[in-house]
Amino acid sequence: MTTPSIAELFDLSGKGAIVTGGGMGIGQAICYRLSEAGASVMVADVNMDAANQTVDEIKNRGGKAQAIEANAASAADAKKVVAATVEAFGSIDILVNNAGIYPLLPVMRVEEALFDKVISVNLKGSFLFAQTTAEAMINAGKGGKIINLASVDGLHPNGNATPYNASKGGVIMLTKALALELAPHKILVNAVAPGSIMTPGTKNVAASALEAGLTIEQLSKSFTGRIPLERAGQPDDIARAVLFMASAAADYTTGDILLVDGGYLLS
Ligand SMILES: NC(=O)c1ccc[n+]([C@@H]2O[C@H](COP(=O)([O-])OP(=O)(O)OC[C@H]3O[C@@H](n4cnc5c(N)ncnc54)[C@H](O)[C@@H]3O)[C@@H](O)[C@H]2O)c1
Repeated sequence: MTTPSIAELFDLSGKGAIVTGGGMGIGQAICYRLSEAGASVMVADVNMDAANQTVDEIKNRGGKAQAIEANAASAADAKKVVAATVEAFGSIDILVNNAGIYPLLPVMRVEEALFDKVISVNLKGSFLFAQTTAEAMINAGKGGKIINLASVDGLHPNGNATPYNASKGGVIMLTKALALELAPHKILVNAVAPGSIMTPGTKNVAASALEAGLTIEQLSKSFTGRIPLERAGQPDDIARAVLFMASAAADYTTGDILLVDGGYLLS
C-alpha cells in the first residue's frame, strides 16, 4: 500500500460540503479552508447577505460555492439543503454543523423560550442536519465526514450560559452517539471544541451582556482571562482543526472531541 502524500491527504477535490452558519465568523473561515482544499461548499445560513458574501469571496479565490437560506433548527430546511447540495455538487461528503447561538444571561433570568431556542439551534439542529446528511451518505455508499462545533462550554461551565452549556454538552454526546451508530457506514463523526474565538457573534454577545448588567470583569474572566497561550483565538484556528477532521488525515478518528482552546481548560 502506498502512503499518500500530505497534499493528497488534504485534497478535498470533488467533495461536496455543507457548512451551516457559514456566513460569518468561524463558519466563514471553515468555508474558506474547505474550498481552498478543493471542496465545493454549500453555505447555509439564516442571513443571506452574509452567506452571499462568503460565496462571493470563495468565487473570487477561484473556488466553487453556493448560498442557501436555511434555519439550522428546521427539519424541512435540513432536507432542502442536503437535496440542493447533491443537485449542485453531485454528492454530499462533508457536513459541518457550525450554526450556533450563545446568549449570556444569569440562570434566574433565562426564560423557557430562550432555553428552547438555544437547544433547538445548537443541539436539535446538529442532530437534524446530521441525520438527513447521513441518509444521503448511506444511500450513496461512499461514507463521509460529519463535524460538529462543540465548545469548552460543553465541558466546563463558566457562568451565565446555562442553556448554551447544556446544548454543547449535548453536542458532545450527540457526536459520540452518532459516531458509534454510523461507523458501519464509514461515516466518521467528530467535534471541534473551540475556546474563546473573536467573531462577530462574540462581539455582539459581549455588548448585549454589558447592557444586561454583567460587568467587564465578569466578561473578561469568561472570555480571555485564563488562556495559557495569552490570546483569544481567531476563526481560522478553528477552521484548520475542522479541515483536519474533514480530510483523509483523520480517516481513523471518529467520536473524538478536539479541543482548540489555547489551553483554556488547563487552568
Ligand atoms: N466564538 C467563540 O468564541 C466560540 C467558542 C466556542 C464555540 N463556538 C461555536 O462556534 C460556532 C460559530 O460561532 P461564531 O462565534 O462564529 O458565531 P457568529 O455569531 O459569529 O456567526 C454565526 C453564523 O451562524 C448563523 N446562524 C445563526 N443562527 C442560525 C440558524 N438558526 N441557522 C442557520 N444559521 C444561523 C449566523 O447568521 C452567522 O452567520 C457556534 O456553534 C458556536 O457555539 C464559538
